[in-house]
Amino acid sequence: MTREYRFTFGQFLSQVHLQKKIPPADAILRHTNTVSASRSILVCDTHTRAIALGIRGNLDIPLCVLSPGETAKGWPAVEQILTTAKEGGLGRDGLFIAVGGGVVSDLAAFGASVFMRGCKLCIVSTTLLGMADAALGGKTGFDLLGIKNLVGTFYPAGHIYLPLETLTTLPRREWKSGMAELIKTALLDDGEMVNTLKNLGDEFLRGDLLPKYEEPLFALIAASVKIKGRIVEADPQETGTDRALLNLGHTFAHALESSAGLGNLSHGEAVAWGLVRSGELGHHLGITPRERAVEITGLVRSFGYEIAAPHPKMGDKKNFMTALRGDKKQKAGKLRFVLPASRGALVVEDDLIEPRSLVSLINGEYALCY
Ligand code: GLY
Repeated sequence: MTREYRFTFGQFLSQVHLQKKIPPADAILRHTNTVSASRSILVCDTHTRAIALGIRGNLDIPLCVLSPGETAKGWPAVEQILTTAKEGGLGRDGLFIAVGGGVVSDLAAFGASVFMRGCKLCIVSTTLLGMADAALGGKTGFDLLGIKNLVGTFYPAGHIYLPLETLTTLPRREWKSGMAELIKTALLDDGEMVNTLKNLGDEFLRGDLLPKYEEPLFALIAASVKIKGRIVEADPQETGTDRALLNLGHTFAHALESSAGLGNLSHGEAVAWGLVRSGELGHHLGITPRERAVEITGLVRSFGYEIAAPHPKMGDKKNFMTALRGDKKQKAGKLRFVLPASRGALVVEDDLIEPRSLVSLINGEYALCY
């Protein structure tokens, strides 16, 4: 059970290894043409330390262990990574090996992009969210002034490993976070992903999908890698609208995460809720056919996500609306929504949307029967 994919993101080449087993460091060093273990560092957090130690084996690779979670995704973590690289004696031909989910990979990738003006990077993704989204496509960064990913670069990893066996110990909440990104990607494509997902919702409610549903999960991650890879190849730095499609549901999700308070909802729970709102707003604007909006709501609900508007954890609706208007996806002062169309999705700017409609949407006035 192994698949390999190669993508070209601008001047960068990324090779994805979707496989069952966690790769040992000697294989990583070979793939990345890194002459010796002393030219590399491993970056993990306290949750992925054991996996990183397993990867290292008996090689002499310095380990940088970060505090876990979004609240630790700041400059001090970047400094810790850069210090480990400097003390480890790495040069420009050095290799950063990130072992973890989106927070660890974003931080390590940022560090790799600036260390000596850029050194080698590979990511061993250990969460469903990382495999479905964060590890691929080169977005790096850290939070500053309370704003998520305020500082960052585009710096795709040369090699990305997605070892399914790391998911066997993934906490339930992390499963739920990643599944929403898989649903999002499925909605951007009209392939088999939606059908596969429709058959998995009930199973997911009964428990995690591994080990029993390894094959469909493998197929879903493989499809997601192909779809996201294709989209990012077309628009690596999100200068057009192609890559912005990956933000389906995210304008609402970011505002919800912010108004609920950092850490009160997982990213995926917010994305799932945002997908439902996108379908309802799209339907209201005549962009999303009714049956598609209903299908999206049904699919999201079948995985046990909260779909109601307003969201019970939203907090003050005024804060939500303020966060919505302040979303970082603003371009030239405009707010962008990605809304499902009959096939795929479309980017719509807010001058086509009456401010009142957003209030009605959040109050649940556009909820559809399903
Ligand atoms: N997570 C959205 C992107 O990679 O563009």
